[in-house]
Formats: sequence, C-alpha cells, structure tokens
Amino acid sequence: MKLLSPSATSSTHVSSSAFLPNVAGFQNLGSSSVTTFKFSKKQGRCIRRAGGTQITAKFELKPPPYPLNASEPIMSQNTFEYHWGKHHRAYVDNLNKQIEGTDLDGKSLEETIIMSYNNGDILPAFNNAAQVWNHDFFWESMKPGGGGKPSGELLKLIERDFGSFEKFVEQFKLAASTQFGSGWAWLAYKESRLDVGNAVNPLATEEDKKLVVLKSPNAVNPLVWNHHHPLLTIDVWEHAYYLDYQNRRPEYISVFMDKLVSWEAVSSRLEKAKAVIAEREKEEERKRREEEEKSTTGEDTPAPEIFADSDTD
Ligand SMILES: [Fe+2]
Repeated sequence: MKLLSPSATSSTHVSSSAFLPNVAGFQNLGSSSVTTFKFSKKQGRCIRRAGGTQITAKFELKPPPYPLNASEPIMSQNTFEYHWGKHHRAYVDNLNKQIEGTDLDGKSLEETIIMSYNNGDILPAFNNAAQVWNHDFFWESMKPGGGGKPSGELLKLIERDFGSFEKFVEQFKLAASTQFGSGWAWLAYKESRLDVGNAVNPLATEEDKKLVVLKSPNAVNPLVWNHHHPLLTIDVWEHAYYLDYQNRRPEYISVFMDKLVSWEAVSSRLEKAKAVIAEREKEEERKRREEEEKSTTGEDTPAPEIFADSDTD
C-alpha cells in the first residue's frame, strides 16, 4: 500500500475496501506543532498531525491485489488498464475534487458514501465515492484462478438460504444480467427484517439473518441499506466487460462466477460481518440489562416534587 509523499496542504489515505461501514475516518488532529503521518494498515487510513495548516484528505487509487495480466485471457490486461487505470482512477480523482473544502473532506470513504447518499436525496459526491468503494470491493471479490464452489459455513448458509449452490448461482446470474443499464449485483448478509413489507415486528431473530441476492443501479451499494453486509459483487457496467465480451454480458457473468470469484474473500467477509453483528448485539444486551437494573433499583424514578404550601407564606 503506497502512501504518497506529504505536502504542506494535502495528505492521502487509501480508499478503504473495508467489508463494512467504517465509522472511523481520516482525523485532523489539529494543533500539534509537528507534522507526522501514521498509517494504520488495519483500518486503511492515514492520520496526519499538523500545526496551523489546513488539512485536505485525499483518497488514493488502490491497485487490484494481483497483476493486471493475471487473469488473461478471461479478463484481459487491456480491460484492467481501462477499467482500473482509467474508470476507477477517474472516480478517485473526481471525488477528491468534489470533497475538497466541503464537510465531507476528511471523512472516511464509508462515511462519505453514507453522508452523501443523504437518505436517498443524493448529493453530488455520492456517485464517485460509492464507485471508488465498489471497485475496490469488486477487485477483491475475485482472484486469478478463482471460481468453483465455496466451502464450510458459507456453503452451508448458501444451501440453507437458496436451496442449493446451483440455485444461488442462478439467482445471482439473473440479478446481474437483468440489472437494466449500469449497476451491480450483490450477495449480502441481511441482518434483520427491517425492510419493506416485513417491518411489523422490528425485533430481529436468528431467522432474519440470511444471505440475499440484490442488484443496484449506477453506484448504489448495500452500505446505504441498513443492516445489509455486502459479501460479493460483480460490476455490470458495460466498461467492465465490453473489450473482452462486447455486448455478451451473460457470458462475462458466467466466466466471473465459474473462474474468477474468490470464495475465500467472500467467506472472510461473512466471518467479519458475523463478528460485527455479534459485538453489537452484545453491546445492545449490555445496555438493555443496564436499563433493566436502573428501573428495578428505581434509579431512574424521579423524586416526588414537593410544593410549598402557599398558606404558610
Ligand atoms: Fe466499473
């Protein structure tokens, strides 16, 4: 991971391809008299300390985790050079220009996506921010010599929630091939029943936690939908496949599923999603017990008000 050389007014942090929204972001630590850079590999962000200087955080184009020619001929170097080298780069460059000097400057990529999605009333930075994240996630969703079948817990859940691995592949291919125009298809781990049509009882149960196949237009991704943890994606914008497959999108999707998907990456994302959910549930349970204890001990019961008798004045 490359950290660009610091300048007096700008710093760079690599766009995080975190599996889940990462609430931590680039931090302007303000008034230190020294300028230092600290890069946390774990959190994928750069922290800069500078005294008396206005700080601008910049996202960096992150390369795919394999050589650009590693998947020849099924995904050519030419495709990568255009897709990653030009399209993905343009999203990063445009995002950096759009956020400079705005409230989004200095936020993590995930925060930028959620804030600029603005509950569906999309702000200008959303498309570039989400496309940067989506492409990072896409490059890591595949590997040279990938494909085949997952194993372990992931396979068990796929079989439980779709009937069989083959039925899941069918659904995923259908979502990817029927996304009208540009967009993405996703496998996500859905954490609760909080979605349209089934929100009568908002309390989630174990049964609500399941794998789902989704598709999204343009740059939209599951980070903006509550309680959806993205595990796998395929880019179905025409720029993703036109050089190798022209208009044969279904063929590109089949090749992706058969020969490119990194099931190790998908399994690892599932594991992380479950860990995040378990941690949050533990915290919610702790708070619930704390509330219960307070109400049992009467800690929260307001003391009765005592009014002075006006006759005694
Ligand atoms: Fe793309």
